[in-house]
Amino acid sequence: MRTRYICASCGTVHEIKLSRWKCGCGGMLDLDFDRGNIDPAAWPEYPASIFRYAETMPLEHGEWSPVTLGEGQTPLIVLDDTPGVTYVKVDYMMPTLSFKDRGAAVLMAKANALGACKVIADSSGNAGTAIAAYAARCNIACDIYLSDATSPKKVAQMKAHGAGIRQINGTREDIAAAAQQAVAGEGVFYASHVYNPYFYEGTKTYAFEIFEELRGAPDTLIVPVGNGTLLLGAYYGFKELMDSGVIERLPKIVAVQAANCAPLAQAFECGESVAAPVQNSGTLAEGIAIAAPARAPQILEAVRETGGEFISVEESEIAGARREMSEKGFYVEVTSAANYAGYLKYGKTEDETLVIPLCGAGIKSE
Ligand SMILES: Cc1ncc(COP(=O)(O)O)c(C=O)c1O
Ligand SMILES: [Zn+2]
Repeated sequence: MRTRYICASCGTVHEIKLSRWKCGCGGMLDLDFDRGNIDPAAWPEYPASIFRYAETMPLEHGEWSPVTLGEGQTPLIVLDDTPGVTYVKVDYMMPTLSFKDRGAAVLMAKANALGACKVIADSSGNAGTAIAAYAARCNIACDIYLSDATSPKKVAQMKAHGAGIRQINGTREDIAAAAQQAVAGEGVFYASHVYNPYFYEGTKTYAFEIFEELRGAPDTLIVPVGNGTLLLGAYYGFKELMDSGVIERLPKIVAVQAANCAPLAQAFECGESVAAPVQNSGTLAEGIAIAAPARAPQILEAVRETGGEFISVEESEIAGARREMSEKGFYVEVTSAANYAGYLKYGKTEDETLVIPLCGAGIKSE
């Protein structure tokens, strides 16, 4: 299978190699390969992980097998059936307790296949935890760049996997810049969930699983968004199903941001196709506290194409939503509760089938 990178800004095509993570023009890279036609009837039973869908990914045969930790195939269960049906997809039932394992498994499978000896990533916490675990699984050294305010429990997870921890007192953007500088200085693979498009080949399985569980697409998907790895992955997955004639229309994507750090919600409301960076005025939803999302144009376009919308939630609404979820038996981390807070503000209609992810476990945050 011939796979190449293609720049989302200028269209330049690049060979896939360890050192490439953005275009010379500064643009984000996407993957260019023959996606073929998706046939869910041909998806095998084994393995019971996201790699049941390996045929849809730009990996060579078996490249995933030294890397998998049994991620994916998470339950979809009914939360509420009046009016319409709301399902929760329990993505905190993952090896490192968040949905990021979907993307990290595929990204690290590729890093391993390319012969990486060391990877560097920057993260608000969960992506770093996932990269650290999968790097350990395939015996690749790893440094994770983080804020010094990252939840200590996430840092403890990364340390347990043997990652080098580089905590920085600065904005999320400062931390990414420090990681990128280290990548250049050390000449190692940048295992970025934001820049590296292999990550989205993993998160797209979120859509495939929902399709199988519902035997179709839901009307609506409500997702929390910071850098958009879940939102874009879900969008790409459903789009592949639609392009293959398996579903007739895309679910409406409703994106949730914390009001205190909502560059995408603001841009969407103003009808912009790019998002101006904002000042993060402080949110406990650390996973979506992204003031300048690098894939903003792609996220805004995806939400618009599906007829979706943005919802911003206040800190008090997030705290209340977390409490409410716990009282229903679901212990989710703050970022995931922000999404449920968005759901509570969303005007669901009577015949609407809706899915919300429970994307991170409660034990991960204070
Ligand atoms: C639990 C959880 N939910 C949602 C998100 C948002 O993902 P993204 O930044 O890729 O949009 C994150 C990101 O770290 C997260 O940890
Ligand atoms: Zn370019």
